[in-house]
Parts: sequence; structure tokens; C-alpha cells
Amino acid sequence: MDPVPQQVREYLDSLVPERPAEMRAMEAHAKEIGFPIIGPASGYLCYEVARMIGARQVFELGSGYGYSTAWFARAVQENGGGEVHHVVWSEELSQQARGHLGALGYGGIIRYRVSEAVQALRETEGPFDLIFNDIDKKGYPDSLPVIAEKLRPGGVLIIDNMLWHGKIFDDSDQSEDTRGVREFTRRITMDSGWIASLVPIRDGLILAIKR
Ligand SMILES: C[S@@+](CC[C@H](N)C(=O)[O-])C[C@H]1O[C@@H](n2cnc3c(N)ncnc32)[C@H](O)[C@@H]1O
Repeated sequence: MDPVPQQVREYLDSLVPERPAEMRAMEAHAKEIGFPIIGPASGYLCYEVARMIGARQVFELGSGYGYSTAWFARAVQENGGGEVHHVVWSEELSQQARGHLGALGYGGIIRYRVSEAVQALRETEGPFDLIFNDIDKKGYPDSLPVIAEKLRPGGVLIIDNMLWHGKIFDDSDQSEDTRGVREFTRRITMDSGWIASLVPIRDGLILAIKR
């Protein structure tokens, strides 16, 4: 059961301004095959935050076929250019992303990597202005120290699925993913090194600034 009512979700999506046909096609494809993209309202917030902080170096963990990447790339381009790292462990998804992001005109600023994403972040030189995390939820807790090391002071972390379709509220759900979301939330909200809030858009985004 999703804690954010369908009516609210649809309303928030309806407030997002029109976007290129290629992005609409990516949204339609997700719906058709049931692929978990962040969707328009969360994507637009990611774009907005990246614009707010003037992000020019962005690292994304768990990029899928590049829908969330497109929102960050748009912000980075409008901020004057830079790099957005697209990382996913599937070659096929990486290839699809190249097609979509090339068609959107972002080819020049995306760095593609087919890899486990936390390992890729470890191996990539920072610092980053913004890191977005959307990997398998059981991997969230272990990603935090690596993210903290690679983000610049004042940099922003956005992490998706922090309401986890309401499963976090069900004490009988002790699956690795659900425990991963709970544990990550506990760690980041109790760590004085971060200012973190949970924004209940779609499936919940944690928006955090590294002090
Ligand atoms: C939720 S989807 C991401 C969608 C994308 N962020 C978007 O909103 O358009 C997560 C993707 O990352 C992949 N993934 C999950 N955990 C990963 C990891 N640890 N390393 C690399 N890729 C991962 C999944 O297989 C899936 O393709």
C-alpha cells in the first residue's frame, strides 16, 4: 500500500511542466513494462534542487535507462555544464540510456559506467555537488560512508524510496530491502554530519545536505 494517495501523486505529477517527447516516451515505457523510474514529480524536484545549488558534478547510483539522469543532465547543462555519472550494472540498460540521453542532447555531459554503483563511486574521483542514490534498498546503509566521503561540504544527497511503498511501517516486514531503508533513515537522521528531511513525494525522497 502506497502511503501517498494516488490522487496526490497524480496531482503532483500534473504540476510538472511539459517536457521533451523523449522524456514522455521514457515515462510511457516505464508504465508499460513496470520499470521503477522516479517519475515526473520526483524528477522535477531533483532538477530543481540541482539548479538551486548550481550542481555541475553529479553522481547517480542505480541509473536504469536514464530517466532520472535526464533531469540531472538538464540542470547541469543549464548550470553551465559539467558531468553526470550514469551507473548501472546492466549493459543493456546502459545502452538504452545512451540512446535516450543522446536524443535529448545530453550525450556530451554523461559519463557511462556499467558496474556495481557503490564500487564505481569509490573508484571515481570527487568531490561531487550532488549524489543521487536509487540502488537496491538493501545496499543503502553501506553506501552512506562512501557518499559522505565523495560529496563536497554543502553538497546534497537525494535518495529515493524512503517510504518504500509503506513497507517500513509494517513491523512484520523484515526483508533485507525494508531493513535497508529503515537503517539508512535511522543513520542519516541521527548523524550530526547531515541535515536531512524526508519529502513525501511519490515513494519518499530523503533530501540531505552534508555539513
Ligand atoms: C529503481 S531503478 C532506477 C531508475 C532510475 N534511477 C530512474 O529513476 O530513472 C534502479 C536500477 O539500478 C539497478 N541497480 C540496483 N542496484 C544496483 C547497484 N548496487 N549497482 C548498480 N546498479 C544497480 C537496477 O537493476 C535498476 O536498473
